[in-house]
Amino acid sequence: MQSNLAYFVTNLLVVLGVLVHMLRPLTKSSHKFASFKGVQRLLTRCKSDNSIPTKKYDLVVVGGGSGGLACSKEAATYGKHVAVLDYVEPSPQGTKWGLGGTCVNVGCIPKKLMHQAALLGEAVQDARKYGWTVPENGIHNNWETMSSAVQNYVRSLNWGHRVQLQSKNVEYLNAKGYFLDNHTLEATDAKGRKKRIVADNFVVAVGGRPKYTEIPGALECAISSDDIFWLKNKPGKTMVIGASYVALECAGFLTGLGFDTSLMIRSIPLRGFDQQMAHLVTDHMASHGTNMLWKCVPESMEKLSDGKIKVTWKNTETVEAGSDIYETVLMAVGRAPETTKIGLDNTEVQLHASSGKILGEHGGDLERSSVPHIYGIGDILEGRPELTPVAIKAGKLLAHRLYGNSTVQMDYDKVPTTVFTPLEYGCVGLSEEEALDKYGEDNLEVYHAFYKPLQYSVAERDASQCYIKMICDKEGDQKVHGLHFLGPHAGEVLQGFAVAIRCNLTREIMDSTLGIHPTSAEEVVKMHITKRSGLDPTVTGC
Ligand SMILES: Cc1cc2nc3c(=O)[nH]c(=O)nc-3n(C[C@H](O)[C@H](O)[C@H](O)COP(=O)(O)OP(=O)(O)OC[C@H]3O[C@@H](n4cnc5c(N)ncnc54)[C@H](O)[C@@H]3O)c2cc1C
Ligand SMILES: *[C@@H]1O[C@H](CO)[C@@H](O)[C@H](O)[C@H]1NC(C)=O
Ligand SMILES: *[C@@H]1O[C@H](CO)[C@@H](O)[C@H](O)[C@H]1NC(C)=O
Ligand SMILES: *[C@@H]1O[C@H](CO)[C@@H](O)[C@H](O)[C@H]1NC(C)=O
Repeated sequence: MQSNLAYFVTNLLVVLGVLVHMLRPLTKSSHKFASFKGVQRLLTRCKSDNSIPTKKYDLVVVGGGSGGLACSKEAATYGKHVAVLDYVEPSPQGTKWGLGGTCVNVGCIPKKLMHQAALLGEAVQDARKYGWTVPENGIHNNWETMSSAVQNYVRSLNWGHRVQLQSKNVEYLNAKGYFLDNHTLEATDAKGRKKRIVADNFVVAVGGRPKYTEIPGALECAISSDDIFWLKNKPGKTMVIGASYVALECAGFLTGLGFDTSLMIRSIPLRGFDQQMAHLVTDHMASHGTNMLWKCVPESMEKLSDGKIKVTWKNTETVEAGSDIYETVLMAVGRAPETTKIGLDNTEVQLHASSGKILGEHGGDLERSSVPHIYGIGDILEGRPELTPVAIKAGKLLAHRLYGNSTVQMDYDKVPTTVFTPLEYGCVGLSEEEALDKYGEDNLEVYHAFYKPLQYSVAERDASQCYIKMICDKEGDQKVHGLHFLGPHAGEVLQGFAVAIRCNLTREIMDSTLGIHPTSAEEVVKMHITKRSGLDPTVTGC
């Protein structure tokens, strides 16, 4: 009780602190005479560029997303003078949002909540089989209600991040950063006011933004993942273009929410992921009601007088043309790093020739750029997984190395992840393709199983794509190199196995571990059929 009260009072004080901080510019200027301010402004205009106020910090972080916030807060715990700049350039459709970066505002958080909204609708269908009375004419999701609930939660996170920066003594600047040289940043706020910032160290954590295919009409007609979670009106009949996990996830939850949804894929789904698993994911999407347009590329988009969008496409193999009319077209064809817009050409920071991302690995430090006091973390760093926990961990470890005498480097190996498609796909370690490449077929054993989650039985759900695969050494202690799980709650199932794999999990340990019955996760420890044996991997009975 007492500690609860203390917690409440602490938070109240922090919130008050933020309010005072926010109102400070107002109170400061209001008790000055207007005429004096006029003279000041005149003076500023007459003086040279040097009169732009300059502030000095130990560390300046450009980008207040997953990586930037984590790094700046951690650095401030060492008593350093730290500032973080975060500025959101509106999307081509005009969507903008608050502090916290991609994950909080237009990524992980709203996407997982909308996925959950879709799963709930499907659970209600199961509920009928379990004896619940569900209206005969079905159930209906109200987009406005759902999306505003999601948006309100996101806004609470924006506020929470602000409060945390304040309480940890990190200066937050809602301004766009631009390097003038390798020690100076120009910060421009929404009103165009400029500030000069000098720092001993810089961390670039500006992330990326969705790309658009360069076809006629795309920029005017299509939205991206920057817009979908903030749409005022329901998307309606939707075409999703792309084969990234973002494309699949969005097409998945839109289908689940009841919208007529098509997914256009040019070549392969989920590039970089295990392709057997990826195709099971898209098989499930097709059976779940998403219209799959394979081997197709959009050719043009046109806004019709009623506001709908006509999309014309071509099949890359049959050269057949197609077209249809949609209420929403969502482009999810990949993301581009924000490196070109932040003045890095005024520094000697080297970028990757084709990706445009920052090249790390200088001076024995994975996140250090070619300029020793400028670092890159998160989505902006070349060759690293674009995931929130990756950005956060890299940011914290960097702060420890910069100010805490640490030498610990980030381990980018065996990063677990989950694709939140209607049937979730979680994985950690190597794909079968990567393992074959690295170790050769003769040295590997692949265990696999098609299983049926217990809850599917009464619900009479199809479990055709519920599949697990483990890739390990064939000989010796059979070290596990990769684990792939397709089924409900894949992320929850895989997290613990990710720990085990970091501890050098072997097939023998897996085999001697008892299951938790009845669960889907137990099917992982129970796998015993190898691909090599050619035996039927379908799990039967108990
Ligand atoms: C639809 C979608 C779903 C996703 N789902 C998941 C998921 O389920 N799990 C997961 O782990 N990851 C997910 N991700 C990826 C995750 O969001 C990113 O990996 C993560 O946000 C990267 O963090 P970051 O710090 O590198 O950059 P970001 O979070 O992108 O933050 C960069 C910030 O810098 C700001 N900025 C840019 N330029 C400037 C400038 N010049 N000055 C000041 N500020 C600037 C940007 O506005 C932004 O706020 C998803 C991404 C998307 C798009
Ligand atoms: C920073 O820029 C200055 C001026 O261009 C240059 O002399 C210096 O070598 C650069 N410093 C680093 C660390 O790259
Ligand atoms: C790092 O090491 C230096 C020199 O030994 C010491 O003065 C400093 O307090 C250490 N800093 C931290 C955060 O441990
Ligand atoms: C796992 O194996 C690697 C390589 O053999 C070794 O460096 C590491 O310390 C091991 N990790 C654990 C937790 O045993």
